[in-house]
Amino acid sequence: MVGLPARGKTFVARKLQRYLSWLGYRSLWVNVGDYRRARAGARQPAAYFAPDNDATREEREGFAMVALKDLLDWFKKDGDVGIYDATNAERPRRNIIREACSAAGVRVLFVEIICDDPAVIDANVRRNKLGLPDYAGMAADDALRDFRARIAQYARTYLTVQEDEGSYVKVIDAGRQVISNRIEGYLSSRLAFFLMQIRPTERPIWLTRHGESESNPADRIGGDAPLTEHGRDYAVALAAFVLGRCSHPVVWTSALQRTVETAAPMGHEIQALRALNEIDAGVCDGLTYEEIRAQMPDEFAARAADKFRYRYPRGESYADVIQRLEPVIVELEGLRSPVLIVGHQAVLRALYGYLMGKPQDECPYLYVPLHTVIQLTPTEIGYDEERFPL
Ligand code: F6P
Repeated sequence: MVGLPARGKTFVARKLQRYLSWLGYRSLWVNVGDYRRARAGARQPAAYFAPDNDATREEREGFAMVALKDLLDWFKKDGDVGIYDATNAERPRRNIIREACSAAGVRVLFVEIICDDPAVIDANVRRNKLGLPDYAGMAADDALRDFRARIAQYARTYLTVQEDEGSYVKVIDAGRQVISNRIEGYLSSRLAFFLMQIRPTERPIWLTRHGESESNPADRIGGDAPLTEHGRDYAVALAAFVLGRCSHPVVWTSALQRTVETAAPMGHEIQALRALNEIDAGVCDGLTYEEIRAQMPDEFAARAADKFRYRYPRGESYADVIQRLEPVIVELEGLRSPVLIVGHQAVLRALYGYLMGKPQDECPYLYVPLHTVIQLTPTEIGYDEERFPL
């Protein structure tokens, strides 16, 4: 990462890490500020960050190098991607990073976050920085003044990444403009594409399964059953819940009738997306788990042994579901308005897993009950979660 403080680097870095982990890349996020706080103590005045403060400059370089070494060690332990979250605002520092990575056989993509809008920067500082241990117990105005002074210290020697520094993506003004240079290979291209979509936003995401369908009490999987009366009651309660918080949310459902019926009382334009359909249980569609165990014991055992990778004959695995959900994730990242997603158990486990940064293998076991709204509100490092059983 590259950029002055309070530009949203950590927000982007954490999103990249969640996206990569969800797609199955082993990825590590390292924040140099955390190394400094752990080693030098959190309470450092703005002067500590002055580029010509000889007493502290060496110490700060030292922390950055320890963090870099940890990141490079990660590649020795089979890591795929390392995210080095620091200002890296000076070219000599970036040269060291590039040379160390090149010696370790690691490719570098600089992701620079640029924003000159004082209102956005101030909001970032207030929302994300004043709560840091750096400012514990300090009055908000004093902390704000100090953080602005810290930014000014970095700005004295900040140089935007130059064309001859190699591969980079520059995200300007929260995605208004994205500039890329020398993007090579599949992963870098995919990251550049993802970076074009992400927007900092405060809007909530509501995830819910459909209301109870006729298959649920019978414990039958898959199918395309309508809602029960109980399920229709949930649909009404859901509309009241969401409309009580936002009059015009975006509403996405799957293309199956139980989710479309669940969203119907919203009275909104609904986008029914096949990508949100439930995991395809193939030859097991319409059976109960007991029937699968009795009729296809080998399939039952294989799924129990590796639920994430197990693919139903003529159906899908959780790994397949993640692949088909990727376009939904990209759309979701680009949305600024509140969104209600009415889905199914497996699909919502995968979506929730992405949003909450859960490792792939945990996804098939995440708890997503019926008749419960999961409300996710963005923060700098992820989402705050609240659950509302209705
Ligand atoms: O039982 C409801 C359901 O949505 C099924 O249609 C689907 O096959 C299942 O949940 C997914 O859950 P699991 O992966 O635990 O079987």
